Amino acid sequence: MKRARKREETFEKFNPLENKTILLGISGGIAAYKACDLASMLRRSGADVHAVLTKNAKEFITPLSLQTITRNPSHCEQYGANGEWRPEHIDLAKRADLIIIAPATADMLAKLATGICDELLTTMVLASKAKVMIAPAMNPTMMEHPSVVHNLEILQNRYRYEVIPPEFGEVACGDWGSGKMASVETIVAAIASRLVSHGAMSGKHIMVTAGGTREPIDPVRFIGNRSSGKMGIAMADAAFARGADVTLVSTVEVDRAYPVILVETAFEMQEAVEGEFDSCDALVMTAAVADFRPLSVSTNKIKKTESEDINLELTKNPDILDLLGRVKKKHQVIIGFAAESEELLSNASQKLKRKNLDVIVGNDITVPDIGFGSDDNAVVILSEDGTRENLTRMPKRAIAEHLCDLLASKFAAMEKTPAR
Ligand code: C5P
Repeated sequence: MKRARKREETFEKFNPLENKTILLGISGGIAAYKACDLASMLRRSGADVHAVLTKNAKEFITPLSLQTITRNPSHCEQYGANGEWRPEHIDLAKRADLIIIAPATADMLAKLATGICDELLTTMVLASKAKVMIAPAMNPTMMEHPSVVHNLEILQNRYRYEVIPPEFGEVACGDWGSGKMASVETIVAAIASRLVSHGAMSGKHIMVTAGGTREPIDPVRFIGNRSSGKMGIAMADAAFARGADVTLVSTVEVDRAYPVILVETAFEMQEAVEGEFDSCDALVMTAAVADFRPLSVSTNKIKKTESEDINLELTKNPDILDLLGRVKKKHQVIIGFAAESEELLSNASQKLKRKNLDVIVGNDITVPDIGFGSDDNAVVILSEDGTRENLTRMPKRAIAEHLCDLLASKFAAMEKTPAR
C-alpha cells in the first residue's frame, strides 16, 4: 500500500501540461489507432484532453476507448439525438489552449484549408482561437499530390497552423516514403514546446548521445548491444522542446528538426562528441558505448572453418565520458548513465565520482520489461551534491523531462554563482 502511494507521488511530479485544455481531433486514417497512445501521454503529462472524432475516425477507433483514456466524454456529432444544436461544443472550442489534429488525413487538410464545416471537428477548429497543430498521415503518393502540398502550404503560411511533419518509412499499405504520422513522442514534444515556457534551457547547447555502438568484426558482423536509443532520443526531444540548441549524436537514424550526427562505432562517437564538446553547456551521455572492440577488423567476411572454435581478440575502447569529465569547464554539466545488473547504487555512485560527473542516472537491467528497448524505465538519479531521487516506472520521455528540470535548476544555480 505504502509502495503504491510512493509510485503515484513520483509519477505525478511529471505534469508539464497541467491546467492546459487540449482538443485532440482525430480523422479517419489507419494512424487513428495511435490516437489512444497520444491521448494517454497527453493526459499523463497533466493535460485535460477532449477527443473529437470524425465520422470516418470512428471506423478505426471507438469513442469509448478515447473516453476511457482521456476521462472525458468523446465528441463526434454536431447535433444531439433529436437534431438539436449543441452549443457546449463551441464552449469547449473556446476554452481549448491548443487543438491537435492527429492523424490529419488528406480530406481533413482539404476541409481545413477551405473552411468546410460539415463535421464537428472542423466546426470546432473554426470556432476556436487556440493554436492549431496538425500531424498529417497518409499514403506517400497522396502526400506528394499537388493538392495536398497546396493545402499544407495554405494551412502553414496563411493560417499559421503548425504542421508536425510525417516520418519516412513503411506505411500501413506496404508502400515506402514520407507519410507515416510523426511518433507520439514527437507530437507531445511539439505540443509541450508550444504550451510550456522554459526560460532556463532556452539558448543552451545540449549534446545528447543515443543508441548502442557497433564494433565491426568483419564487413558483415559486429559486436553490439541491446540499446534502442529511445532514452537519448526522448532526452534530445525534451531539451529541444524547451528551447535548447540540441545536437544528437546517435547510432540510430532519426529525422528531427535539430542536428543529428549519425555514428556507428565508439571511435566515431568519440570524434563527434569531442568535436562539439567545447561549445556545449551540457552533455547527456545516454549511449551504450561498447567497452571493447575487436583488436583487428577483417577486411573480408570471415569464413566458416573446419574448427569448432574461433578466437576473437578484444581491446579496450576509449571511455568518452571519463575523458571529457577530466576537461569539463565549470559552466558545463555532464550527465552519465549506468546500466547495472548488480550493486546499482554503489556502482553508480562510484562512476559519478570516478568520471567527475554532475549527475548519474542508474538503472537495474535485471528488472523485466523495462530499460533496453522498452518505452519505460525506472531509474535512480544521483547528483554530485549528494542528492538522490528514485523515479519508479514511467515513460522514458517523463524521465527526460525530469532530467531537463534538473539541468534547468543546475543552469539557474550557475547563473546565481558565476564561475570566477
Ligand atoms: O562505465 P560504464 O560503461 O558503465 O559507464 C556508463 C556511462 O559511460 C554511460 O553514460 C556511457 O555513455 C559512458 N561511456 C562512455 N564511453 C565508454 C563507455 C561508457 O562514454 N567507452
